[in-house]
Amino acid sequence: MPPKPLDLVSINENVKKAQYAVRGELYLRATELQKEGKKIIFTNVGNPHALGQKPLTFPRQVVALCQAPFLLDDPNVGLLFPADAIARAKQYLSFTSGGLGAYSDSRGIPGVRKEVAEFIQRRDGYPSDPEFVFLTDGASKAVMQILNTIIRGEGDGIMVPVPQYPLYSATIALLGGTLVPYYLEETANWGLDTNELRKSVSEARYKGLNVKAMVIINPGNPTGQCLSQENLREVLQFCYEENLVLLGDEVYQTNIYQDERPFISSKKVLMDMGPPLSKEVQLVSFHSVSKGYFGECGQRGGYFEMTNIPPETVDEIYKVASISLSPNVPAQIFMGLMLNQPKPGDISYDQFARESKGILESLRRRARIMTDGFNSCRNVVCNFTEGAMYSFPQIRLPPKALEIAQQAGKAADVYYCLKLLEATGISTVPGSGFGQKEGVFHLRTTILPAEEEMPAIMDSFKKFNDDFMEQYDDHRGYSRL
Ligand SMILES: Cc1ncc(COP(=O)(O)O)c(C=O)c1O
Repeated sequence: MPPKPLDLVSINENVKKAQYAVRGELYLRATELQKEGKKIIFTNVGNPHALGQKPLTFPRQVVALCQAPFLLDDPNVGLLFPADAIARAKQYLSFTSGGLGAYSDSRGIPGVRKEVAEFIQRRDGYPSDPEFVFLTDGASKAVMQILNTIIRGEGDGIMVPVPQYPLYSATIALLGGTLVPYYLEETANWGLDTNELRKSVSEARYKGLNVKAMVIINPGNPTGQCLSQENLREVLQFCYEENLVLLGDEVYQTNIYQDERPFISSKKVLMDMGPPLSKEVQLVSFHSVSKGYFGECGQRGGYFEMTNIPPETVDEIYKVASISLSPNVPAQIFMGLMLNQPKPGDISYDQFARESKGILESLRRRARIMTDGFNSCRNVVCNFTEGAMYSFPQIRLPPKALEIAQQAGKAADVYYCLKLLEATGISTVPGSGFGQKEGVFHLRTTILPAEEEMPAIMDSFKKFNDDFMEQYDDHRGYSRL
C-alpha cells in the first residue's frame, strides 16, 4: 500500500520542520499534569485574560452592542449602556454593510483603517495613509502575510533576532525561506549591536543567500528590552545600506515599565531621519489588540502599515488577503476602539482611564517583583523587563546538571524547566525555544500571574532553583560563557 496523502511521510516537509516551543513539550506536560489535578500556573503564553486580567468595560460594551444590535432598539438600552458606547456602536455598525455577521473588505473596514491611520499620525507626528493599512486576524497573520510576500524560496534570507519569538522561525520554515540570526547582547540589556548585524548579513551573503528583510521586536519578546532612538536609527541606516525591508513588530508598544526608554516607533524614527531614507527604506510595522491593557488575545485583531511599498505590491498583498475573504470583523472593532479611545469629558473616560492605568501600573510592579525575584536566586541572572510581558532569566547550570540532562536525553534547559514544572506547577518555556547562544541557558516566563500571587510564585521558584543548584552544584564552574 503506498502512503496516503496525509500520512506523516507524505505531508509537506516544511510543516514538520516548523517548531513552536511556546506550546511545545513543556506545555504538553503541563496540560497532562493539570488533567491529573495538579495546579498549574501557565506562564508560557502572553495571554493576559487567561491569567485573570479583566476586559476593559468600554470596548466590551461597544462590541456587545454591535453583536446584538437589537439592544439598540430597546427603550431601556440607555439604562444598561452609557451614551458614548451606544454612539460608537451605531457608528461602527454604519461602517459595515450587514453588521458583524458580514464579511468586510479583505483589507478591513475602511472606517477602522482610517482610525488606525489617524492613531499612527497622532503617535508619530507624520501622515499615515489608510490605503497602506491592512487589518488582520492578529499580528501573527499579518507577519505571515508579509513573510509570504517576501519569501520566494530557500535562497531568501530573513534576519531575525536571537532570542526571538518563534512565530518568525516557524513561519520562515513553513514558507521554505532561510532564517539569518543576529544575536542580541545579553550583557548590554539585550541591546542590538550593528557590528553583529553586519557580521550576520555578510556571513549569510557569503553563503549565497539573498538577504531581503530584517525583523525587530520592540519591545522585545522574550527579552523585554526597549530599543533606544539611537539603536533604531542605526537599524534603519543598516537596512538602507543593505537594501533590506524592515519588519517592525511593535505589538508591545504600550507595555512599557520604565521611563528612561519610552517606546518609539520605527516609522517615526524613519521619518525623522528625512530623505533619502524616509523616502526609500521599506518598512512594515505590526500591532495587535492582544497586548497592552486590552490583552484581547482571543479576539484575534491586528494590523500592518506599509511605508515606501509600491502600490503594485500593495495590490498583490490585497489580492492574497482576498483569498481569506475578510479579517475578523469584531476584532477590527476592538482595534478601532484600542486606537481611538474615550477622551477626557466623555462619559466613559474616567472608568476607561482608571481600568487601563490600573493594569499597566500593576504590570510595572510585577515586572519589578519578577526581575528582583530571579536575581535573588542562586546562579540566576536576569535583565529588567523594560517592556513587553516577559522575564527571560539566564540559568547558570552546573556541569553535573548538564550531564544529568544529557543522560535523560533532554536539552539542559528543557530538563530544568520540566523539573521546575513537576516541583512547583510553574509552566515556563525553555530558552532553546527562542534561540540562545551555544551553552547558555534561559527560561521565559510571562509577568502576567496575578500580582497578589506573585510573591508566592517567586518564593516557590526560588526554593526549587536553590535546591536544584544545591543538588548539582559542585563548584566546577557554570554554563555561562
Ligand atoms: C512579538 C510578538 N509578535 C506577534 C505576536 C502575535 O500577536 P497576535 O495575538 O496579535 O497574533 C505575539 C504574541 O505573543 C508576539 O509576542
